[in-house]
Amino acid sequence: MSDGLEDVVAANTVMSEVDGQRGVLIIRGHSLDELAGATRFEDLVRTLFDGFFEALPADLAPALGAARAEVFSEVAALDPGLLDLTQVEAMRALTARLPDGDDLATALRLIAAPAVFTAAVVRAHQGQAPVAPDPALSHAADALRMISGRVPAKAQSDALDTYLVTVSDHGLNASTFAARVIASTRAGLTSAVLGGISALKGPLHGGAPGPVIEMLDEIGEPANARAWIEQALARGDRLMGFGHRVYRVRDPRADALKAAVRRLDDGSNARPGRIAFAEAVEAAALAILKEHKPNRPLDTNVEFYTALLLEALDFPPSAFTCVFAMGRVAGWIAHAREQVAGGRLIRPQSVYVGPAPLKAA
Ligand code: CMC
Repeated sequence: MSDGLEDVVAANTVMSEVDGQRGVLIIRGHSLDELAGATRFEDLVRTLFDGFFEALPADLAPALGAARAEVFSEVAALDPGLLDLTQVEAMRALTARLPDGDDLATALRLIAAPAVFTAAVVRAHQGQAPVAPDPALSHAADALRMISGRVPAKAQSDALDTYLVTVSDHGLNASTFAARVIASTRAGLTSAVLGGISALKGPLHGGAPGPVIEMLDEIGEPANARAWIEQALARGDRLMGFGHRVYRVRDPRADALKAAVRRLDDGSNARPGRIAFAEAVEAAALAILKEHKPNRPLDTNVEFYTALLLEALDFPPSAFTCVFAMGRVAGWIAHAREQVAGGRLIRPQSVYVGPAPLKAA
């Protein structure tokens, strides 16, 4: 048995390759270096979907804009009980209202859903009514506009595009595997996406970036970093934003997102010194993790600079996992379609290690 299915190969996929030794991510034949900062999210969605849906339009933007407008009807009158849930749970509850299916219309509603529902939930927490989508805007620009009520600057929508593309797919991560298991039963894309959101929300997967901001805020200034980190590790805590199951070197997504934060910082300079402070904390963490686990390479993962980028884009930390889902939903759907197209029911075995019955069978 492989603990945590480490190194077990459970699917052939054309979607993405994660080279954990070299720190390289390839998405459908393109390296992350080529894609991040150069591709709109809707174009990457089309690339991921290519060959897995019939009659895929050359430009997905108009159909995706229409899908945002369609799913908005679910939030026109938001159930106040949703505010008792965490934001990702509320977004999941709204997504669960969408019909299940396997066609492109279902897929586009599911791509639209995290952007529309996250904005409505964030605004509801701020006591504000939801803002209806503008189907003419790009998905990233509209996602930001539906939260703030203002069309964002190009630098901001470009930064969100970079983020959504960077996290759109990543091999057989836990949420994508969950989505593929559900798809393998032929339950439908909505069910697969709901499973993906559920797996993503855990702190070891997509729940890490919110706590990264808590860590930075508690540390406060570079001089406090070493003592704070040593105390956290002495308590047995894990440092959020560090370590990875597959990467034994730096996660390439960390640098793609760090570059995006820098580009944004040049334009807005909303929090002077924030990147330099984060770099100081990162350097301290890497040095201490090396002493703490000399035999296990623990480097910066995607979540550390995710936190900085989403903070710079004014997303509240309580919504960071929802924003991760806005991007990763593309990968979940593409993998679900790939699973249905060529894969059997996923049904592994377990080894029974409980007590034997008193009476022999
Ligand atoms: N801080 C401190 N110690 C760590 C960390 C960390 N971030 N990551 C791993 N370790 C230790 C771990 O405690 C274990 O020690 P021991 O052998 O004494 O029990 C050893 O390193 C090996 O860890 P593991 O649990 O076998 O590693 P894994 O492959 O199961 O876990 C991980 C990978 C990402 C869950 C883990 O590194 C972690 O918990 N990181 C913090 C949470 C985080 O940043 N998650 C986002 C991951 S990237 C986004 C995504 O793709 O989901």
